[in-house]
Amino acid sequence: MVPWSLTPRPPWEGRRIVLGVTGGIAAYKSVQIARDLTLLGARVDVVMTEAAGRFVGPLSFEGVTGRKVADSLWSAEGSALHIALGRDADLLVVAPATADFLARAAQGRADDLLTTTLLATRAPVLMAPAMNHRMWDHSQTRANVEHCRDRLGYHLVGPYGGRLGAGEGSGMGRMAEPWEITEWCGRLAEGPSRALRGRRILITAGPTREPLDPVRFVGNRSSGLMGFALAREAWLRGGEVTLVTGPSGLTDPVGMTVVRVEKAREMLEAVRDHGAAADLLVYAAAVADYRPTSPSSRKTRKADTGSRFTIELEENPDIAAETRSLGTPGGVRVGFALETEDLLDRARAKLRKKGFHLVVANPADEPDSGFDVDTNRVTMVHEEGPPEILPLLSKEDVAAAILDRAERLLEAGRVAPGTSP
Ligand code: C5P
Repeated sequence: MVPWSLTPRPPWEGRRIVLGVTGGIAAYKSVQIARDLTLLGARVDVVMTEAAGRFVGPLSFEGVTGRKVADSLWSAEGSALHIALGRDADLLVVAPATADFLARAAQGRADDLLTTTLLATRAPVLMAPAMNHRMWDHSQTRANVEHCRDRLGYHLVGPYGGRLGAGEGSGMGRMAEPWEITEWCGRLAEGPSRALRGRRILITAGPTREPLDPVRFVGNRSSGLMGFALAREAWLRGGEVTLVTGPSGLTDPVGMTVVRVEKAREMLEAVRDHGAAADLLVYAAAVADYRPTSPSSRKTRKADTGSRFTIELEENPDIAAETRSLGTPGGVRVGFALETEDLLDRARAKLRKKGFHLVVANPADEPDSGFDVDTNRVTMVHEEGPPEILPLLSKEDVAAAILDRAERLLEAGRVAPGTSP
């Protein structure tokens, strides 16, 4: 499940994106990319190669972008167009990028509108290769890909293993999913100014599951949505993100290291393993405070327990408190406080006890806030100054608001990115 909204928002909003489409069967999926980028607020100019036109018609792209498709160099308008499109673009993305296109790009050819636009642009370039697996495995394709990536600095997403076109079976060569390409477009089209670029960021998310026996556990209602939204937003802003999450039905966000764990003690270990070099640690997980003292190795049966069944629990480690000295010197730590009463006082106490620089407090007893809903009503509690009460927002917007503040704290601390021990 990819729960993110498709409304105009940074980093896509207002960005000029050239979407190059070349001649492969995956071209039909590029209509979805054009649509989603447009809904996210980007101005999308589609440039099709002649071969692309054999797979999908320009009208499909025009219908979703509301802009005319460019497909020919051979007009007065066309020959000026490649310079204008290339010059003005914030990003050029080619999806699908066929073996032939990768070869022409690697050689610096300029024999159609898309290749000339590629030469004319100084914007970041993203390619999403798609082809038959035998073509992808060919040493010449490998050399072209390496040249595009290592010499020309183009970014590549995919291809992946999976089902190919009809009659081609499966193999390595399937284009990355449209939503993944859209996410990469956001990260790459975003301007160079954001404070999270190159920062190492660790985020905990989701619930934990503490086993009672092989089939039952003690857990909570956390869906992971808030933590996943934070991880995604941090990645879109250029961060190098590790997401440590308990069991969640959400799809792994694109581009980051995702460590899936079950128990609190596993989460603690994963945070220790991955957090040493972090400039920013955000503890958004709803960690079970207690675990069953002696989980059974076989399924507990009613016949064993009778009409009453008492479970003894013991305390779990407090991950945030135990890792309070983790991360780079001067790094920033953000925690959450979900409470039903004394919200602000308890949030302040947590700030001190767990070494947070910022605590995001939210009430646990409002229907549109907290667990399992996609909105949140939060108050930011700082080390100094009054709390900031935010209105009801989507969890994506809450994530952006939290990271705006974390960026400011990082900048105030003047920790240079990557100053890890
Ligand atoms: O004490 P409480 O659970 O309310 O604290 C909430 C904050 O501490 C959250 O940021 C949560 O992720 C973190 N926490 C933790 N390990 C625990 C309990 C809470 O990291 N065992």
